[in-house]
Amino acid sequence: MNIEAIKAFAREALKDDTSGHDWKHALRVEKNARAITPSDLPASEKEVILAASFLHDTIDEKVEHKKTMAEVRQVLEENGASSTQVADILNIIKNISYANNLEEKQPLNETGQIVQDADRLDALGAIGIARAFYYGGHKGDALYDETAPRDVKDLTAANYREGTSVLNHFYEKLFQLEKQMNTTLGTAEAVRRTRFMRAFIEEFYGEITE
Ligand code: ADP
Ligand code: NI
Repeated sequence: MNIEAIKAFAREALKDDTSGHDWKHALRVEKNARAITPSDLPASEKEVILAASFLHDTIDEKVEHKKTMAEVRQVLEENGASSTQVADILNIIKNISYANNLEEKQPLNETGQIVQDADRLDALGAIGIARAFYYGGHKGDALYDETAPRDVKDLTAANYREGTSVLNHFYEKLFQLEKQMNTTLGTAEAVRRTRFMRAFIEEFYGEITE
């Protein structure tokens, strides 16, 4: 697979993004994915993980130069991906997002589980805190308000994006992620990053409570 060409396609789609799905996010997902990929995985599956890490947000509605599934399929076919690799990558891109997994858990094979964990790790820890406040600013949400976080079981793909404060987002999504990780290595890092986020939120409450 010509990974460099696929990388260039994804970089083009994600450039100028201000919703937290910019190119640097894709690069961090690649880094996280490499750290949790078993070294004995077949080379063809390692390629799927890299390509999906770069491409996973290129079809997201929030991305400015958004691509279609057909365009992603085409770039993969033109750059030497086998039909199995194309099918695997498209399935990962379609199924990994938090919103798509609220009502029903989407099926993912091992490569998909690794990319999903790598993506989730970037919503956690110091970078996760930064992205949450950045995204809240992008959407015009309050830092915090009087509303209580919604119960996770009441969230659907449709209402997940409705206005919520950034502080509530920690309870509606970010603190849920460590329980939903797929891989052992990913879970360990998610637990570590979540502990840091909880300490931050505790400090935050101390400063805003009268
Ligand atoms: P996914 O790719 O799993 O659908 P999102 O696109 O919802 O994830 O999230 C991308 C980034 O933006 C994450 O770091 C996430 O925590 C943050 N984010 C998403 N929704 C909100 C929100 N309502 N308030 C603050 N941050 C958010
Ligand atoms: Ni992502």
